[in-house]
Amino acid sequence: MTNPNQQLSLDALLSIGKVISVKGRLVEVLVSKTKNSSILLYDGQIIKNVSVGSYVKIGKGFEELIGKIEGEYTTEDKAFNQKSYSNERDKIKRILSISLLGYLQGDTFRQGVKELPLIDNECFLLTQNELDGVHNFIKKINGVPDLKLKIGHLASETGKVIEVGINSLFASHIGIFGNTGSGKSYTLAGLYHKLFEQYKGKAGFVQNARFLLIDFNGEFIKEDTIENSDKTITDDNKNIFPLSTDRDGSSRKLIISHHALYNSTFWSILLQATEKTQAPFITSALSSKYINERISSDQGIIELIKSTIKLITTNITVNQEKNMVESFLDEIGKFNVNRSILGITELKQFYSEELKFFAAREDRRYYCMINGFTYNSNQDDGFYENVISMKVNQLIRVDSNSLTDLQRIKLIINFHYFYSIQKGHYQKEHIGHILGRLDTRIKDLDKLVIVNDQETTLSKPMNIVSLKDVNIHMRKLIPLLLCNQIYEEKKKENDNSKYLNIIIDEAHNILSTSSIRESETWKDYRLETFEEIIKEGRKFGVFLTISSQRPSDISDTIISQLHNYFIHRLINNRDIQAVERTISYLDKVSFEALPILPTGTCVLAGLCAHIPVIIEIDKIDDEFEPRNKTIKPTDFWE
Ligand SMILES: Nc1ncnc2c1ncn2[C@@H]1O[C@H](COP(=O)(O)OP(=O)(O)OP(=O)(O)O)[C@@H](O)[C@H]1O
Ligand SMILES: [Mg+2]
Repeated sequence: MTNPNQQLSLDALLSIGKVISVKGRLVEVLVSKTKNSSILLYDGQIIKNVSVGSYVKIGKGFEELIGKIEGEYTTEDKAFNQKSYSNERDKIKRILSISLLGYLQGDTFRQGVKELPLIDNECFLLTQNELDGVHNFIKKINGVPDLKLKIGHLASETGKVIEVGINSLFASHIGIFGNTGSGKSYTLAGLYHKLFEQYKGKAGFVQNARFLLIDFNGEFIKEDTIENSDKTITDDNKNIFPLSTDRDGSSRKLIISHHALYNSTFWSILLQATEKTQAPFITSALSSKYINERISSDQGIIELIKSTIKLITTNITVNQEKNMVESFLDEIGKFNVNRSILGITELKQFYSEELKFFAAREDRRYYCMINGFTYNSNQDDGFYENVISMKVNQLIRVDSNSLTDLQRIKLIINFHYFYSIQKGHYQKEHIGHILGRLDTRIKDLDKLVIVNDQETTLSKPMNIVSLKDVNIHMRKLIPLLLCNQIYEEKKKENDNSKYLNIIIDEAHNILSTSSIRESETWKDYRLETFEEIIKEGRKFGVFLTISSQRPSDISDTIISQLHNYFIHRLINNRDIQAVERTISYLDKVSFEALPILPTGTCVLAGLCAHIPVIIEIDKIDDEFEPRNKTIKPTDFWE
């Protein structure tokens, strides 16, 4: 306890001047002429004197208001008396512009301006205790102080450690922004590494906490994980999915549920379907009751083959090509690779030899087979029984169990394609491209996902999905497919002991609004998923952490709804404006620092820090650093 005398001398030392103007939250203080040195000494302690970016206290009666110095300027003292014996320097008046941030309650800082100062109120520097109070970000939640996580220290004062509340940081949407090489991935790795250090191995954590890290560049998995996979995969806390669309496919695949797979929007995007015709075609294929009822049984598939051939031969369209039956059988014949449908080659050969198409007369076109008897498809004289049903029964063998779910979808689309064309619902020219793409895309998808309703991709707390070796068509879609699924599941589960954090490094890859190549469907799908998570996720315990080089490319809706921001160096004006436009927490000083922040230093603002601070993020062990060191070319040039 300081005695009254000490308090007086402390006040005298710390007093820097008086308020001379109050304009809303902005206050101007005239600095006393005795306070021009850069540090002060009191009782053996060094106290930093007035500087831009530091904090001051303004006393108003019993209230102690806290503000941040945003700038300083000088004017000439009109009342200065040339004739008296005084220093020429005293002619200058120093004026500080201060923006009010909050007030002190004891030693605790409270955010918000509940009162404004009056002219002539005295302004003080903060004591160490008060300064600690201002930088103490640990809030009480229902009366209990939040658990602490040390993340770094103040950039301007290396001794001042910055700790944040684990709940106020991790139960929030986090944004990490900054130019390339400014330290985003490092900050991201640091935050989650520290959290895991604190909680790994705890039963509740292992059971209830789930993190999904989408890693576009493979920075967060070590090079050797692919060959030496069991070393990392047996790690109790971590699953690694080094996805790949190259020849061999992924060593470990994502687990997708049936429900998520039967999403027509997903298929529309995957197959780059046009909105007007192709997308509705896909929707109707996936929801076709007739096909879906039959697709899972051997007999059902045989029926589908028969009914499609019947449609082609009896429901002849205006421009029907001669070899429509063969085209159909070619598509179905592709399912012999895993021996799901056999005998198609034989059936095709039979039809090419025996079945003739007559189209000479516009009004009378038909298929005909002469085999002792003559069977015409336009006359009901046993054509179906003898030419189709009997032959299919004779030659075709189906093993529907060996069809994978992806192939089943392909088969559904195949059947529906021929059905729609013969029925005249769609033109071949309009939907033909879909079949063209179907093969390659399904092959790709097959390398990345397996369909299983019993298991989940997120079986351990941290799940890292690397998309480095995934081709451009799948790169954006896979994260969406997965996020969409796990979010939907989380919503259904609605269990608030379960926590899910979706972490996306290089989020502009999927959240960018400006790409002209993408279709409206894609935008809607993404919007549905991520904007919904941002807006509603909190209620279901789902949080997003996004990191990006280009905040200006990410939709304002997303950026403005984030709760906590780590903003690294930003140089581009558009990015700075995007941040300015959407992040209301930032003050002028922090803003102006953005283009000149060193690597590893960032502005922390948001719910977990009641005032924005510029901090240096702690170093992490080399072993846990993201694999993204800037190369040093000259090392290899000798
Ligand atoms: N707090 C820090 N302490 C020490 N080194 C750091 C720190 N932050 C970043 N670095 C180093 O700076 C380099 C660039 O950091 P990082 O890869 O995280 O940048 P980035 O913003 O993710 O870049 P990009 O947008 O290109 O992915 C790395 O070599 C990293 O080791
Ligand atoms: Mg990075």
